[in-house]
Amino acid sequence: MVKCDIKDKSLAPKGKLRIEWADNQMPVLKKIRERFEKEKPLAGKKMSCCLHVTTETANLMRTLKAGGADIVLCASNPLSTQDDVAASLVVDYGISVFAKKGEDTETYYKHLMAAIEHGPDMTQDDGCDLVGLLHKEYGDSYLKNVIGGTEETTTGVIRLKSMERDGALRIPIIAVNESETKHLFDNRYGTGQSTLDGLFRATNVLLSGKNFVVCGYGWCGRGLAMRAKGMGANVTVTEVDHVKAIEAVMDGFRVMKLEDAMSFADVIITVTGNLNVVDEKHIRLAKDGVMIANSGHFNDEINIDAIERLSVSKRTVRDYVDEYTLKDGRMVYLLAEGRLLNLAAAEGHPAVVMDMSFANQALGAEYLVRNADKMEKKVYVLPAELDQEIARLKLESMGISIDVLTEEQIAYLSSWESGT
Ligand code: NAI
Repeated sequence: MVKCDIKDKSLAPKGKLRIEWADNQMPVLKKIRERFEKEKPLAGKKMSCCLHVTTETANLMRTLKAGGADIVLCASNPLSTQDDVAASLVVDYGISVFAKKGEDTETYYKHLMAAIEHGPDMTQDDGCDLVGLLHKEYGDSYLKNVIGGTEETTTGVIRLKSMERDGALRIPIIAVNESETKHLFDNRYGTGQSTLDGLFRATNVLLSGKNFVVCGYGWCGRGLAMRAKGMGANVTVTEVDHVKAIEAVMDGFRVMKLEDAMSFADVIITVTGNLNVVDEKHIRLAKDGVMIANSGHFNDEINIDAIERLSVSKRTVRDYVDEYTLKDGRMVYLLAEGRLLNLAAAEGHPAVVMDMSFANQALGAEYLVRNADKMEKKVYVLPAELDQEIARLKLESMGISIDVLTEEQIAYLSSWESGT
């Protein structure tokens, strides 16, 4: 039986058209779906999935269902749900969904609980909220049936690894984020472009000539800095890791402490996965009119309480733009309440990037069914052959073929005796 708590079922026709549009740009997932249709590798498996409810996720859900899974989907962020997609999943594809854009914290957790109470054999998570709750609040009675799960993002992987270190992790997890065909593309090109898309939709700002600060030069930060530079912004990077910092310098960016960038920064975007990266001391030094946003997983990269404390008034001046007036009259603009800008104010990653990420999710679920009995309660990476296979399918869909090693080259590369 299809269950749901969604905003409005009548939005389904619009959602269906958008899901189909995304599907046209997800050839790898489509190939996997066609195979799953025939082979039913997930037959009889109940899955609780906690992901951003977007058009691309809808196509992943269709793929899992084609593979035989019985799914309940909830949102991995209160602001990222696309209500028309949620409606279409329920109405057109018969998939249970618990998600409403803008849901409050209480509803968000109620929806997570609805997904867990489906009684899953497998989980799919994006940020570890579902698996965290499953461990903390549900325990043995639910965990005993779970053969394993997959995790989509960097922040979730960090949390799961710390659960593993503390001996608290009770199921094997495949960290999809660690696949090369995930983080090299989704985090870099996906976040790079879509975060700017969110910035433009929220503010209509012209980036050219702006002083643009990227906090964090990991996979997401690299993509964001590269794209902002390409649009004519003067890009400054802040980091805490010396290797990443020197890499940013060599890539041609200014690198400094955030404190030192505050006096000239027009736009600041955090992508660190860390806490209070933009803190009270930074707000005190902010340039009048600065726009501050986050594209890291949680809404705690910007210390919003500090902004509130330092302000005399706040008003919402556009969708996703809160204007704070500081005590000395300076303005600070906080975008999307500090939540993932690309998913809150835009549509998240383009489908063509999510194609590879979600191919990893689908193959991860299949891998778990085949191998969970041999796996320990640890965080795993998908085997390199699957990464290669996803990249191969993607290239094939683009009509690109590459060279193959000759027998002579294989022998040469595997020998220590050849060469002079
Ligand atoms: P990463 O681990 O590759 O990079 C994070 C970087 O931030 C590291 O280089 C780290 O040294 C740096 N950092 C940590 N604390 C800092 C601080 N106080 N100041 C400056 N730099 C600091 O992680 P990745 O893959 O780039 O992900 C970053 C965040 O974005 C995570 O929360 C991840 O879950 C999220 N994410 C968001 C996506 C989106 O659609 N918006 C997509 C993929 C990931």
